[in-house]
Amino acid sequence: MDIKEAIIKRHSVRRYLDKEIEADIVNGLNSVISDVCVESGLDIKLVLNEPNAFTGFLAKYGKFENCKNYITVCGKGGREVDVGYYGEKIVIAAQMLGLNTCWVALTYKKGCVPVKAKDKEKFYITIAVGYGRNRGLPRKTKPMEKLCNVPINDMPEWFKNGMDFAMRAPTAINQQKFFIKLISAEDRIVSASSKIGPCSKIDLGIVKYHFEIGAGKESFKWKE
Ligand SMILES: Cc1cc2nc3c(=O)[nH]c(=O)nc-3n(C[C@H](O)[C@H](O)[C@H](O)COP(=O)(O)O)c2cc1C
Repeated sequence: MDIKEAIIKRHSVRRYLDKEIEADIVNGLNSVISDVCVESGLDIKLVLNEPNAFTGFLAKYGKFENCKNYITVCGKGGREVDVGYYGEKIVIAAQMLGLNTCWVALTYKKGCVPVKAKDKEKFYITIAVGYGRNRGLPRKTKPMEKLCNVPINDMPEWFKNGMDFAMRAPTAINQQKFFIKLISAEDRIVSASSKIGPCSKIDLGIVKYHFEIGAGKESFKWKE
């Protein structure tokens, strides 16, 4: 499975098989996590076989079942966009390793999580991971023209491909509060912003990662 296929196949999964993650898959995932930690400066950990954090929480999203493995993301303050960007890199790598995932900011029991943020750092979020009972389902998305500033017929191909993948990005409560602007078609400059909403900055990082994969990182530049 290549990275684009992994993005297309990924959906949030909350019900997992009662099955330990195999050792070589754990090694593969830990190796991705340690590379991402070096690249990002975030403190990301894989927690295995911890059965309590995702129990007894009847979320409006749907209950978690057999979720015993999860990733925790900590780091310095103000790094929400990076948390999304680098966390999604791990999510997509997990999908390529045959695992399923779900970003979880709220519906877990923080007190059960054995990882704590270091002094002066922040505990940002968790990502449930394991073998799904199913692969999850496609969900609704806002139309492309509501999420960017270019009418579909006027879009360069690379921008359209970026938008297609951005629309597949998971966002908290599927809020999709992001907006992508083609600033200059000639110079291929793009900006991405988010409106206020729960976790919308983390969402923005996830969206940027997806857009880069869809458009091709070499096809354009982000406006700083
Ligand atoms: C930053 C973030 C936080 C999320 N928090 C939760 C959560 O607390 N509980 C939950 O069940 N799902 C949570 N989700 C999953 C979203 O509900 C899900 O990604 C969204 O509905 C889109 O569906 P998809 O992931 O299948 O594309 C979160 C997703 C993101 C990106």
